[in-house]
Amino acid sequence: MKFIVCSSKAEAIRRGVELVVGEIGRNPELVLGLATGGTMIRFYSELVSFSWEKKISFSKVRTFNLDEYVGLSFRNKESFRYFMEKNFFDKVDLKKENIVFLNGEAKNLDGECERFEKSVKNVGGINLQILGIGKNGHIGFNEPGSSIKSKTRVVDLSLETRKANAKFFGGKFEKVPREALTMGVSTILGAEKIVLFAFGKEKADAVRDAVEDKIGCEVPASLLQRHKNVIFILDKGAASELKKLRNT
Ligand code: F6R
Repeated sequence: MKFIVCSSKAEAIRRGVELVVGEIGRNPELVLGLATGGTMIRFYSELVSFSWEKKISFSKVRTFNLDEYVGLSFRNKESFRYFMEKNFFDKVDLKKENIVFLNGEAKNLDGECERFEKSVKNVGGINLQILGIGKNGHIGFNEPGSSIKSKTRVVDLSLETRKANAKFFGGKFEKVPREALTMGVSTILGAEKIVLFAFGKEKADAVRDAVEDKIGCEVPASLLQRHKNVIFILDKGAASELKKLRNT
């Protein structure tokens, strides 16, 4: 695991954006795994501006988003698809046919997850996967208890996650769906490179558990320790509980 610890969130985002743009520069056909959530909002706005500035094209990039709520259509403002359209897809020259998204409204949810897995395989796997982290250590919507072997599937969301995501549902956690579709842990670990962003003290315990705890499914992000090419991009707050970095 590598760490980039920055003095501010703005600097951390800048480093992440430079990294992603660098990868696209080297491989214009990059297969990019994407995340949503509060952590990612500023990342996408910076990625959009920086790629305009550097004249980086996404026309050959293919994207796979990590997760989606069950029961929300892409027109629903709280859906992850809507989040992505608004913050990123509508602002760059990505081709619609190169965007792969889980459909939370699919009649056959298991079939939808299989379709997603097949699409990942058909493009030869994900080159670069972007992740955030939940306060309970989840990655994607792989909640505590998720197996390292898990594939894309339907999951129950924990109360903690529904409460954390209430901020996107007018503050009402009862409105947050109880189920979601998520890329599996093994699907995530299949990516060539993984970049995880975490900002603020509220993520410090989750980051510490992911990095310094033993590997186990109770903290799904700790399963990333099994991957050879993971970079954590953190601000000071999110890194504040890391013993290794505190002593350097
Ligand atoms: C969202 C996702 C989640 C979030 C995590 C952190 O696509 O995969 O794992 O990254 O819940 O969310 P925020 O950034 O809102 O704290």
